[in-house]
Amino acid sequence: MKILVTGGAGFIGSNFIHFLIGPDNTFQGDFEILNLDKLTYAGNLENLADLSQSKNYHFVKGDICDGKLVESLLQSGVDAIINFAAESHVDRSLYEPDLFIQTNVVGVQVLLQAALRHRIKKFIQISTDEVYGSLPPDAPGFREDTQLSPNSPYSASKAAADLLVRSYFKTYGFPAIITRCSNNYGPFQFPEKLIPLFITNALEDKPLPVYGDGLNVRDWIHVEDHCRAILAVLEKGKEGEIYNIGGDGERTNLEITETILDVLGKPKSLMRYVTDRPGHDRRYAVDFSKIQRELGWSPAYPLKEGLAQTVQWYLRHDEWWRRIKSGAYRDFYQKHYQERLP
Ligand code: NAD
Ligand code: TYD
Repeated sequence: MKILVTGGAGFIGSNFIHFLIGPDNTFQGDFEILNLDKLTYAGNLENLADLSQSKNYHFVKGDICDGKLVESLLQSGVDAIINFAAESHVDRSLYEPDLFIQTNVVGVQVLLQAALRHRIKKFIQISTDEVYGSLPPDAPGFREDTQLSPNSPYSASKAAADLLVRSYFKTYGFPAIITRCSNNYGPFQFPEKLIPLFITNALEDKPLPVYGDGLNVRDWIHVEDHCRAILAVLEKGKEGEIYNIGGDGERTNLEITETILDVLGKPKSLMRYVTDRPGHDRRYAVDFSKIQRELGWSPAYPLKEGLAQTVQWYLRHDEWWRRIKSGAYRDFYQKHYQERLP
């Protein structure tokens, strides 16, 4: 099966490609992978450096909004598309919403239209639980039929894309599936998101900026569990369906922060309460019983073990994150951090 993976040089996409190819190129199945990535600030070919010799893997630098390029790639006989490409950070979507609409909405429409013309057999849109909005403290987790109520430009752009995907299924019978996963953590995550930012700041003895009261809740899932779920959807998922994916790992941001500091043996004094994110969703939790029941998938990583493994990965990949943090990202982060100081 030839798969066009878009956004494969980012965090989840690169983990998914590694997951499919397996250690020592032992592939999880008969796959050929074409990775189309624009290499934005979040795309990093270092994430895939070990695959440069793999005969079943090819990289193309380009934009999913470039219809001609996408058409030319599909002409080479692609069976399935898995769309990871996106602007993915809520904080950035507050500064540059136009970029989010361009890639996350227009880009998805370009992919859908080209895929429809080329009669692609399966299209998986990697969406997010954030499209459902925020949950009250004791409410049950989001179900696939929970109303969409996105609260940030990021989640609104992802919800818009989901509706486009739905419309292509309803209108043209286009074989699309949507997955909505909770917050991922693990190797190769860009150090702007909570867990890698806090691990690396702690390693540098820099402040850990906790937004608001730190009691916002996220459901955390190890990226490898997410990758396994996507493979299950690719192999067994039903066209036109939505599958929620969760990690059974609800924690407050304070709990995550304290665990990271404990694992690293760093003092709580590194925590710094800063101005809250505007429109900050209070709680996410996911009911993933549908994918459990229908596709036989469940998360395997207990959060504590996954976090400890992730901390070890960042310790061992010092050069990887230090290069990112000392490059162009440093100025963005400094400005963003200064603005939040009370
Ligand atoms: P990421 O920011 O690490 O990676 C995104 C990748 O997309 C980068 O390699 C980037 O270069 C590429 N890209 C961006 N714009 C592009 C364009 N126009 N054309 C081609 N490539 C482009 O993001 P991630 O955390 O790996 O997230 C991947 C997907 O999973 C996203 O769609 C995101 O919405 C979704 N998701 C993420 C999480 C999470 O916790 N990170 C949770 C649920 C869903
Ligand atoms: P993040 O990793 O940005 O993911 P998302 O906003 O998509 O859930 O943030 C996770 C949680 O951590 C969220 O409640 C915001 C909070 N947070 C902080 O408190 N400080 C930070 O520096 C960051 C990046 C996030």
